[in-house]
Amino acid sequence: MNKQQRQRIVDRHKDALLRHGHHPNALYWSSREIQEKRFQVLSEIGIQSGDSVLDVGCGFGDLAAYLEGQNLELDYTGIDLSPDLIEVGREKYPQAKFSVGDLFDFDPAPQSYDYVLLSGALAEQISDNGAYARRVIERIYAICRKGVAFNLLDARNDWVASRPDLQSFHPDEIMKFCKELTEQRQTRDDYLDNDFTVYLRRVNA
Ligand SMILES: C[S@@+](CC[C@H](N)C(=O)[O-])C[C@H]1O[C@@H](n2cnc3c(N)ncnc32)[C@H](O)[C@@H]1O
Repeated sequence: MNKQQRQRIVDRHKDALLRHGHHPNALYWSSREIQEKRFQVLSEIGIQSGDSVLDVGCGFGDLAAYLEGQNLELDYTGIDLSPDLIEVGREKYPQAKFSVGDLFDFDPAPQSYDYVLLSGALAEQISDNGAYARRVIERIYAICRKGVAFNLLDARNDWVASRPDLQSFHPDEIMKFCKELTEQRQTRDDYLDNDFTVYLRRVNA
């Protein structure tokens, strides 16, 4: 992702935050319910109390509060490009750890988090035929000890396909790509019309 693409994402969220405050609309989610449905499906990879979790493109870090509400006591770290969203997250969720930047700015060590989760951070169109998204998927799998769960917009959905500002993917193509990473992979498209989730697990984890 180049400098201009990063700046566009930061600016869009700064503007949305001014309009909506700490609300899912500032993240371009249509409602809290939709945001949390995605969180629920991500968490169903099998997260348990005591796990460490890295949330890539965490926004405000609302996932930390959602998981806590499920009685999961986790070691949560969120990273996001937007300093404005992270500032709110630090205030709202003092128990969580946050850093500002892109995954590749930090380069966490291999297998340094039990789970790496990502919700919505690969939805902006950056016109590279999905090359950045594939690099992110490879990297988050390298960082996890137990598994990764991420969601993508589903290119089979007409509304998504008609939006030039959104980046979407075909589940079969993503699964083909993920086959190079692990045999233990699964997709879920049973929870929202325009989205699918991928679970990748480490063998023996
Ligand atoms: C749709 S929002 C979802 C936020 C959060 N995951 C949630 O569901 O509440 C997408 C977030 O990803 C962040 N983002 C997009 N590309 C990113 C990147 N390359 N590195 C870090 N964060 C990124 C945006 O700043 C934004 O906060």
